[in-house]
Amino acid sequence: MRFWLVLGRPFSLHRSAFGGGKMYTAVLLFVFVCWTATAHADHHQPCRSPNMTGYVSVMGQRAETRAAGPFTYDSTNKKLRLQSNSSHPWNVTLDLDLLVFFEEGILYKIDSKNQSCEKKSLQCTKNPFALPSDATFMSTMTSGSVSIEGEGLKFQIWTTPTPGFKGQNIMCLTMGCLPLSTFYVTESSVFIFSNMNVELEIKDPDLLVVPSFCQGLPAEETPEGTVYGFYDEFL
Ligand SMILES: *[C@@H]1O[C@H](CO)[C@@H](O)[C@H](O)[C@H]1NC(C)=O
Ligand SMILES: *[C@@H]1O[C@H](CO)[C@@H](O)[C@H](O)[C@H]1NC(C)=O
Ligand SMILES: *[C@@H]1O[C@H](CO)[C@@H](O)[C@H](O)[C@H]1NC(C)=O
Ligand SMILES: *[C@@H]1O[C@H](CO)[C@@H](O)[C@H](O)[C@H]1NC(C)=O
Repeated sequence: MRFWLVLGRPFSLHRSAFGGGKMYTAVLLFVFVCWTATAHADHHQPCRSPNMTGYVSVMGQRAETRAAGPFTYDSTNKKLRLQSNSSHPWNVTLDLDLLVFFEEGILYKIDSKNQSCEKKSLQCTKNPFALPSDATFMSTMTSGSVSIEGEGLKFQIWTTPTPGFKGQNIMCLTMGCLPLSTFYVTESSVFIFSNMNVELEIKDPDLLVVPSFCQGLPAEETPEGTVYGFYDEFL
């Protein structure tokens, strides 16, 4: 029940700001499903997302929009660029410019103004743009109407184990494997990633190229005994 309360607030506060009624209905339904349905074993194989350009918002605890901005995802080479600008009108808390190579396990944190860069090693490559291969299918649901043409959005719900901590990693995707919402819950934090206005192409391939000022940097050491992942950037 606590999970619901935490998720309930961002839902009501940000619904109008994003104008994405469908998306947030999906959030609501999803929470309901999680509390009422038990995962049933199934033969579904995790699907692979297509190449995507779109817009992502990241909500955290206390109805706070942690990040919002454009993203580009290359699903073949598992590369991501995500830029969040805190001067948005939505009171976004984080200025972030991330270039991530999930296959190589490398994350660049870019500061273009400053022409500086941090390079980090990722031990956990889970992210809200690709369904992890160890995900388990839970169910499909329709947000909106099941029977009225154009008034319903059918989506699939998957859950992924979170080894090393007690939490939840749940993804809702369209039937064509476009991630809609990802819920990432740990003992101390909650994140909801929502993808919007997605197009199935990489519009600007240059965004996935390491800037010259980031090249040749050594990767920062991850403190021993800690597992660093994409989600840690939003804490
Ligand atoms: C995704 O984009 C990359 C880079 O442009 C390309 O190499 C790859 O073939 C594309 N993948 C798909 C599934 O279209
Ligand atoms: C964020 O947006 C502001 C206003 O649109 C712009 O001046 C600034 O350069 C942007 N910052 C980044 C890092 O893109
Ligand atoms: C923006 O966020 C800050 C800090 O979280 C808060 O104090 C402020 O009231 C917020 N402003 C708006 C317009 O929501
Ligand atoms: C430039 O980068 C350094 C560290 O790389 C940082 O301490 C400093 O605040 C940055 N300056 C600006 C204006 O962003």
